[in-house]
Amino acid sequence: MSARRKIGVLISGRGSNLKSLIAACTDPKFPAEIVLVISNVAGAGGLTHASNAGIATKVIPHKTFASREAFDAAIDAALNEAGVEIVCEAGFMRIHSEGFVRKWQGRIINIHPSLLPSFKGTHVHEQAIAAGVKTSGCTVHFVAAEVDSGPIIAQSAVPVLEGDTPETLAARVLEEEHKLYPLALKLVVEGRVQFAP
Ligand code: GRF
Repeated sequence: MSARRKIGVLISGRGSNLKSLIAACTDPKFPAEIVLVISNVAGAGGLTHASNAGIATKVIPHKTFASREAFDAAIDAALNEAGVEIVCEAGFMRIHSEGFVRKWQGRIINIHPSLLPSFKGTHVHEQAIAAGVKTSGCTVHFVAAEVDSGPIIAQSAVPVLEGDTPETLAARVLEEEHKLYPLALKLVVEGRVQFAP
């Protein structure tokens, strides 16, 4: 069996998607392992999931860097030092510099809680409810220079129900996210989906 690909995960918060990736990687047949979790926020809940699973963690607070480029350089260095081959963003709330995106192009993916290209950015479920859509969902995509706009790897849809609040819709979408992200990562790791700009 070929070696498992080394994954780095970038987080900023509670890390429920990280948790689902950790769970997927505990299956010895899954073709990847998480070798490093980086958070730009000290005390982010996801760091505990990583430590509990024996995964190395690093806090790199963006506020301590003079520029986006300097912050990204520190992330890049940490990823390289850990031998990371593929980066998963899981609730990472910083926008990358162009140079960083170019460097990792095709090897950095993100999960977003809408059916892109609809409802980019933040307050996604509020946007979906306000638009009156009957279906929402989540998307795993390659990261590109423009936020939430890289090539789509996989999507999963859920219904938007009468009386949904942003919270009830978020919970329904999140359940799908936890299934979709490991599947999408597997597609990328196995080279079954490739970045095409
Ligand atoms: C998820 O909804 C993800 O799609 C979005 O941010 C949220 C992160 O949640 N990018 P968690 O930290 O993985 O629980």
